[in-house]
Amino acid sequence: MNQEKLKQQIKQLAAEKDALLIAHNYERDEIQEIADITGDSLALSMEAEKTDKSVIVFCGVHFMAESAAILAPDKTVLLPRADAGCPMADMVTVEGLQKLKQQHPDATVVTYVNSSAAVKAESDICCTSSNAISVARSVSAKKLLLVPDRNLGRYIAKQVPDKECICWEGYCPTHDKLAVEEITKAKNEHPDALFMAHPECTPEILELADHICSTSGMYEYASNSSAEKFIVGTENGILWRLKMENPTKQFIVPSTNLVCPDMKLTRLEDVLNCLQNMEPQITVAEDIRLKAKQALDKMLAAPRD
Ligand code: 13P
Ligand code: SF4
Repeated sequence: MNQEKLKQQIKQLAAEKDALLIAHNYERDEIQEIADITGDSLALSMEAEKTDKSVIVFCGVHFMAESAAILAPDKTVLLPRADAGCPMADMVTVEGLQKLKQQHPDATVVTYVNSSAAVKAESDICCTSSNAISVARSVSAKKLLLVPDRNLGRYIAKQVPDKECICWEGYCPTHDKLAVEEITKAKNEHPDALFMAHPECTPEILELADHICSTSGMYEYASNSSAEKFIVGTENGILWRLKMENPTKQFIVPSTNLVCPDMKLTRLEDVLNCLQNMEPQITVAEDIRLKAKQALDKMLAAPRD
């Protein structure tokens, strides 16, 4: 079936099933195109919570759909590709976190939303890349356990120097690979470009950035800036909307490795299949859900960076 026909069928079926199609900023162009809402992790969690639709089709990765299921238990949450995970989220286990907590009983656990529901349930408060600094500042404890991203953790530690920060050693394989040489080369070739970077990049990369922000923060920055050229330090799915919203501006991708294989799994056929079969459904056991919701609710009540 051709793409236009598939898109039409998805839209029709979504209307029949009272479904909201949401897509993360890293999804394939055609998936972002059919979505009712695109956004970063924080925005999508908030949309999931407030929608009055009875079904949420979450085009993203597992932890994102799980967050939707935690926040909106009365909705059916579908993840078109059950195998779309996040390697960083898999780098922390409940047992590992419990051990670390025992070693630091006086610390508050601040967990990046890129984590399983079970790990969130062991945490005091969650954060995303768009509110991490405000969340860390809002915590009264002097000691923080920052889980699971060491790069986001080090970024928080630098911005919140009055707290002792202990970082879990997880990382995003896509962002962590971005090399200083690649940025230096892009900067040399485009000296008039501003470099925007996601906080999942290494500290050495963040040192070189003009602006550090979440994926949605990059749309705001590129649109509001008077600059004409930007070096993009995040996954390449972000380019679709960046280019569409800024047709006269130029976006430079500094590396061919800026691709998250899990975010690219979902295709139009998968979205259609999941609406036809109403699966795979994402659910969270009620005891875990209630604990994880507390950590997410605290995050949602915190200010944005
Ligand atoms: P955002 O919160 O910026 O959307 O990032 C999510 C993510 O997985 C980045 O790799
Ligand atoms: Fe996980 Fe990295 Fe993919 Fe984001 S880009 S979903 S952190 S692997």
